[in-house]
Amino acid sequence: MKAHRILLTGVTGQLGFALWPRLRLFGEVLPATRHGALPGGGRGLALDLAAEPNMLARDIARLAPSIIVNAAAYTAVDRAEEEPELAWRVNAEAPAVFAEYAAAHGAWLIHYSTDYVFDGRRSALPWREEDPTAPLNAYGRSKLEGEEAIRRIAPRHLILRSSWLYGPRGRNFLRTILARARRGEALRVVDDQVGSPTAVSVVAEATVFILARELAGGSFEGGLYHLACAGQASWFDFASAILEEAMAAGIIAHPVAIEPIASDQWPAKAVRPAWSVLDSSRAEQVFALRLPHWRVALRDTIAELAEAVQASGLFMGASTCPSP
Ligand SMILES: NC(=O)c1ccc[n+]([C@@H]2O[C@H](COP(=O)([O-])OP(=O)(O)OC[C@H]3O[C@@H](n4cnc5c(N)ncnc54)[C@H](OP(=O)(O)O)[C@@H]3O)[C@@H](O)[C@H]2O)c1
Repeated sequence: MKAHRILLTGVTGQLGFALWPRLRLFGEVLPATRHGALPGGGRGLALDLAAEPNMLARDIARLAPSIIVNAAAYTAVDRAEEEPELAWRVNAEAPAVFAEYAAAHGAWLIHYSTDYVFDGRRSALPWREEDPTAPLNAYGRSKLEGEEAIRRIAPRHLILRSSWLYGPRGRNFLRTILARARRGEALRVVDDQVGSPTAVSVVAEATVFILARELAGGSFEGGLYHLACAGQASWFDFASAILEEAMAAGIIAHPVAIEPIASDQWPAKAVRPAWSVLDSSRAEQVFALRLPHWRVALRDTIAELAEAVQASGLFMGASTCPSP
């Protein structure tokens, strides 16, 4: 297999960080962050996705990647309501610039999108790739435009829509719940939004699996795929499971009270879909992979965290940001 030159954006983010070591299987990884500083020290490439599109295009051309993996995004869902132009720059315009480079140079573009492209106005039937999109918030609109630009422009693309991402590092729901539970705070958690909690490790591993298959086989099954853990949960179910698994793993010592609430009892700037469960069966069939149940992936992530806590004797610190 040819050794590739892989531009990876968003290395400071939870998914980008998980992808970074795994992508080395395919060749030289060029890790990029907004200002060039890499997590854990060292310098990577500075690539600001909010930069003027011509400047971004020039920088990408200079790097000459054969694969671009775009794990960077403007993910502050509530803040996007106040600065929709910035969200648009990063989530809609920058992916279009990547797509133009990919189209002109025969490069692959791997991009990630979100369940928030759906309006959530149905229940019981998980969303499929061909279902009509109708985002309810500025973040979702910007992500949808990014998807559409890539589909219009770049013939060799993979758009992987995921949902409710969490992992052992970064800003996410899992870490917020754990940090608050460790402080002994009682929790009130929304119970009328239902989705597919998905561990970043699952998305990172599936990305590598798909890429390996595509690059080795020379076959081409690009396009749009849902990629989320199996099963469904409300934020309340998810938080309850986090507490249960964390108690069992010894990450939290004492139980904390948890109360289900309705979305209107937790005012947020951005409206979120009530039902955003994704059906990932197309990816499972086309790529012959099996996505784990969210509860299994959660247990694995908590086990990873427990090991890290034990090794360092430290907890990983609080995060207050709700998950996109
Ligand atoms: N998180 C979720 O629940 C979720 C759900 C569904 C889909 N997704 C999608 O999955 C992908 C990965 O999300 P994630 O959860 O890993 O996100 P994340 O942890 O919030 O990380 C976002 C990354 O994007 C970078 N970034 C933001 N603005 C940038 C800019 N102007 N220039 C360069 N880099 C910039 C951030 O850099 P800084 O560290 O410098 O800010 C960070 O590295 C995204 O496409 C997201 O839309 C996420």
